[in-house]
Amino acid sequence: TPLAIIMIMLAYLGGSVSSAVLVCRLYGLPDPREHGSHNPGTTNVLRLGGRLAAVWVLLADMLKGTVPVYLSWYLGISPFFLGLIGIAACLGHMYPIFFHFRGGKGVATALGALMPIGLDMGAMMLGTWLIVLFASGYSSLAALIAALLAPLYTYWLKPEFTLPVAMLCALIIYRHHENIQRLLSGQEKRIWNRKKQRR
Ligand code: G3P
Repeated sequence: TPLAIIMIMLAYLGGSVSSAVLVCRLYGLPDPREHGSHNPGTTNVLRLGGRLAAVWVLLADMLKGTVPVYLSWYLGISPFFLGLIGIAACLGHMYPIFFHFRGGKGVATALGALMPIGLDMGAMMLGTWLIVLFASGYSSLAALIAALLAPLYTYWLKPEFTLPVAMLCALIIYRHHENIQRLLSGQEKRIWNRKKQRR
């Protein structure tokens, strides 16, 4: 258990490294916390024009979830604590100690944290997210539907993780409250502009 608590703290600290802010600085892009949706995440970096930058942000944010959970699993930590470690990584991303507690929405980090459940889980999550994204064009809607389905997928594949995954998904949905309002009022921005895309 002391090991699990150390891993929870390390996961939180690792999650607190806001890769969107750092990668944007590196690429000379505007601060994602001050532009676009004001969210330091992959979607908003893409919105700010950084395609390659967005790929780095996605990878780094996913690793913030995968590395601590996978390492903890390797160290023999129990499923209950593995769940808490995944949640801690996402809490770090959402409320980063190094960035005035102003972080992102936890979608990529949660996807990364769920990967150690299995490649089938990862594929189902990514598949769900991509299907909704391509059907609707809304990154946030894709994340919301994936978050709603994740506990069901988990119950099916690895039932012992259902509770922590459900808690994590509730957190992600809560972090999307502004997106939900924008979706309902038709104000949400699509990830691409359909007219531009045809050119
Ligand atoms: O990755 C977060 C996504 O679900 C929403 O991001 O920038 O559109 O608020 P954004």
